[in-house]
Amino acid sequence: MSKALADFLASRGDPLAAARAAVRAAPESATAHLVEASLLLCSRDRRNIEKAGWVYAKLTKLQLTPKEAAHLKAIRAALDEEVAAACEIYDEILAEDPHDLLALAVAQLYDYYLGNPESQLRRTARMLPAWRGGMPGYSSVLAMHAYALQECGDYEAAQAAAHRALALDPRDVRAHHAVAHVMEMQGRLEEGMRWLGTRSALWSDAGGATTHLWWHIALYHVELGRYAQAVAIYDHRMQGDSLSELIDASALLWRLHLAGVGLGGRFHSAATRWAPYAEDAYCAFNDLHAMMAFVGAGRRDLASRLIAAQERRVARPSGANHDMTRLVGLPASRALAAYGRGEFAFAAQLLRALPPVAHRIGGSHAQRDVLHLTRAAAAARRSTELKRAA
Ligand SMILES: [Fe+2]
Repeated sequence: MSKALADFLASRGDPLAAARAAVRAAPESATAHLVEASLLLCSRDRRNIEKAGWVYAKLTKLQLTPKEAAHLKAIRAALDEEVAAACEIYDEILAEDPHDLLALAVAQLYDYYLGNPESQLRRTARMLPAWRGGMPGYSSVLAMHAYALQECGDYEAAQAAAHRALALDPRDVRAHHAVAHVMEMQGRLEEGMRWLGTRSALWSDAGGATTHLWWHIALYHVELGRYAQAVAIYDHRMQGDSLSELIDASALLWRLHLAGVGLGGRFHSAATRWAPYAEDAYCAFNDLHAMMAFVGAGRRDLASRLIAAQERRVARPSGANHDMTRLVGLPASRALAAYGRGEFAFAAQLLRALPPVAHRIGGSHAQRDVLHLTRAAAAARRSTELKRAA
């Protein structure tokens, strides 16, 4: 297994830098280029998608095995924003080779972006019989299975699978993450805080994944009403600049905002970091979190630019993000903007009208919960207004 893929599976170091180093060391290696392009496409950052296109162009000039050619086909589909089609190609690769960890990890991530945990679970369940203890990467496969199980509501099986992964590799960040979700979904907040807290030294080199695990701990604090502790975690553990870290930052600040916690200049700082992404309209899930920062900071200029970019995206009817933006992303952005203007009845109405496919905006149950929380907060603020007026 390449260092880049091992780092990606372990959420460790900088997998993309490792992939680029591998390409520099072996410019004719199709595998090295395939890993680089796949990691770029996994980033959800449109700037990296363009770079993945350049790697794709290089790959078309190399001699490829049938399996490498299948990976290239999946990359082409992802470049065209047809990630569901890419997942189908990865499933064909995995049917032939259930040990292809690049295909497995990328497909799991795409299904997370598509809000499709059932597909994640079917995939890991199909792969596991081919895996045995001692095989490199087995703990990652178990951890991916654990995550899919919990998103599908089978919490006991999820916890058991995560602990099997941790028995193989006590540092496995993905397994820690699956347990964090189990604790969240079962309301085991104190226990989750202790369990994750005592293990935090094990994932200090996990980059954005470390931030996300701290986000989970902060979320337990928010749900227990311990807002000062959540803010302290934000200040000391969640200051990264990557897209996934910005998503976690917004998700925490917005929950605190809904709870009426004063946040000083934190939203302004987050909005400044989100500003370069305001007009991406590449991923509705990113846009939703950028919007939280813009509204929280009172940056109506950035909020308007984001909504205008989403409107332009909706006018171009292709790619997975078209439907995500049309059905969920754009109405959710309008709802957050309305909330920021104090139009609580309109915000609640827009969020109530989100279709049953709202989960297709991607992310986890724990992350998407913010839409329900916003709707409840908007309804509560509206009800208070009505009582005052009566
Ligand atoms: Fe999570």
